[in-house]
Amino acid sequence: MPTKALAKKSAAKKPQPKKDGLTEAQIAVHWKEEGDIRPPARFIAQANLNDPQMVERFSEKNFPECFREYAELLHWDQYWHTTLDTSRPPFWKWFVGGKLNASYNCVDRHLAKYKNKAAFIFVPEPEDEGHTVITFQELYRRVNEVAAMLRDFAGLKKGDRVTIHMPMIPELPITMLACARLGVIHSVVFGGFSGEACGLRAADSGSRILIYTDGYHRNGRWVDHKASADIAVKTAEKEGQSIDKVLIWRRYPHKYSSETPMIMQRDFFINDVLKEYRNAVVEPVSMDAEDPLFLMYTSGTTGKPKGCQHRTGGYLAYVAGTSKYYQDIHPEDVYWCMADIGWITGHSYIVYGPLALAATSVLYEGVPQFPDAGRPWRIAERLAVNIFHTSPTAIRMLRKAGGDEPQKHNYRFKHMTTVGEPIEPEVWRWYYEVVGKGEAVIVDTWWQTETGGFLCTTKPALDAMKPGSAGPACLGIYPVIWDENGKEVLAAAHAAGNICIRNPWPGIMQTIWGDPQRFVNNYYKKYNADPNSKDWRDWPYYAADGAVLAPDGYYRILGRVDDVINVAGHRLGTKELESACLTLPEIAEAAVVPVVDDVKGRVPEIYVSLKPGVHSNRAITEKIVATIETMIGKIARPKRIHIVPDMPKTRSGKIMRRVLAAISNRMDTGDITTLANPDIVEQVRQIVQGRERGPLAEGPEDIKLFGEDR
Ligand code: WT7
Repeated sequence: MPTKALAKKSAAKKPQPKKDGLTEAQIAVHWKEEGDIRPPARFIAQANLNDPQMVERFSEKNFPECFREYAELLHWDQYWHTTLDTSRPPFWKWFVGGKLNASYNCVDRHLAKYKNKAAFIFVPEPEDEGHTVITFQELYRRVNEVAAMLRDFAGLKKGDRVTIHMPMIPELPITMLACARLGVIHSVVFGGFSGEACGLRAADSGSRILIYTDGYHRNGRWVDHKASADIAVKTAEKEGQSIDKVLIWRRYPHKYSSETPMIMQRDFFINDVLKEYRNAVVEPVSMDAEDPLFLMYTSGTTGKPKGCQHRTGGYLAYVAGTSKYYQDIHPEDVYWCMADIGWITGHSYIVYGPLALAATSVLYEGVPQFPDAGRPWRIAERLAVNIFHTSPTAIRMLRKAGGDEPQKHNYRFKHMTTVGEPIEPEVWRWYYEVVGKGEAVIVDTWWQTETGGFLCTTKPALDAMKPGSAGPACLGIYPVIWDENGKEVLAAAHAAGNICIRNPWPGIMQTIWGDPQRFVNNYYKKYNADPNSKDWRDWPYYAADGAVLAPDGYYRILGRVDDVINVAGHRLGTKELESACLTLPEIAEAAVVPVVDDVKGRVPEIYVSLKPGVHSNRAITEKIVATIETMIGKIARPKRIHIVPDMPKTRSGKIMRRVLAAISNRMDTGDITTLANPDIVEQVRQIVQGRERGPLAEGPEDIKLFGEDR
């Protein structure tokens, strides 16, 4: 249905300049439209979302009041008076006047019925360590004790920020919930990021307390994590942020498992300090619905990661609602989301959403294929997991390393999720037939750090599954696809465009921490015709993903259209990697491009040219890798580094990343005659592909790509 805003927008937008990069969406490998698969009857019979009326209740004419239904899943200390306040676009306010506490909602309120039920089942990576069960009663005790310590020992109060750099152990959600209890804003940094990356984020958020773990198991090795705390403190201080205390959890409570010395008066073992707070009870602080709950840093198009600020009421309502209806979590299920809590998936769909519903969740410390590709299925069988949630990268890896393993194990999934990247229909089918044994429904959920929760996915009991497509929009979400000129790309066009969400929803971030202008510019400026408009219809959310809409209303997501590379479902900014390279004195220029990878979806490849007089050698590539690992973390390690004599450039001197990406992906480099140095292209091609001209990758079959004249 065309809205007022849509009609206006088409005329108002001026064409955007063509980008010099080849984006993920443009190098997307296209597969043909697949047939429908109906959800299994056994699933439908027990589903939370089995009422087609609900779709009607969330239709646009009932917006925004429809979202009351999500908010009513929570306990409110005080009911809200205004569901959505749009008076200051795009800084929406949800459930205004309402008061609640997230920790109370995730823990305390379940005690009456479920105090003896498992909240978390922790599975350490070493298989011989067995698992530990944490009941809701135990979770309540531990969250209270930690909250008391954070308040009285660390001096934290409502509105303060705390940076948490921890692996997947129960102390991580416990610490987050303790912060939420006090109204302290947590900023969890993924454990695999370096100390330096953590320090920068701590400085940006203004944290004066860091929370760490001494170490953890990962892929069969022991990681000495305390070492990165020292680097984080130094980095934060260099940025002008002093750190008062570093609080350290011991992975094994009774022994310190790091080689790195503790620093007197600065470093403290939480396990020891907690003895003072045994059985302490901390009243949950009643927060305004709009008070921030947490920050989650993510990569953007500029060098600096941005702190996505999420609100308490709207966020919790949205993740509780989507966990209930799309993850189909019931209190009696055993739910396992194999993501890391250090990413938004873990925040929304391990911690806040599932706990708001009193779920029993598996928390696994390690990597899926350790010690072998049968591990996840052994865990699933042993713990009777029936809801399983993971990423295409993990699915590809497990399929490659042990495609027959699932059938050797006697588990039974009713529901499975894939999230974070597009999934190939072939991989989807293995997931469905082999992992799910043809009995489990699959949801392919498309969303982002910024969006708090799902945007597009099938309704598990009501919609057919279609391999390779995320599905229709979620309840209360109204997407649209526009081309660069603001013209709507309709389903019949078989063309890709920029997917946007026309309306606000409760899970959307509030702002970028400390940079509201960047929030407006990044997500709303592109398709906003009138910056003075007070009408939400004039403020569509720009997701920076390419997408195609099929005639059946299903969205297929192609990937990023900006300078972000989605590696194994994790976002890396090309600028972050390039700036890391440029800190080396030998490097003159650096360009990073996304390259298709059969396990990780996309990986970064780096092109560098050296300063005059510097000779190309192995040591330089090793230095580049080491620098990236130090400044960002191991997850950003490039697949290949190419040292080239010069970069292909425009006459104005801009590096043509599009040409480099085409070479790396063995695609057609397109017209290069207008370059300042067209001859360099063949030289670079030979360096990358060798002397023999390899076959070019197949181009898109059925979809016209935006920004390209094909
Ligand atoms: C980017 C967001 C969503 C939580 C984990 C990642 C890509 C996400 C899908 C999907 C195709 C997907 C998009 C998006 N993406 N889910 N189901 N199909 N692509 O959160 O790190 O903020 O990354 O991941 O490109 O923009 P994130």
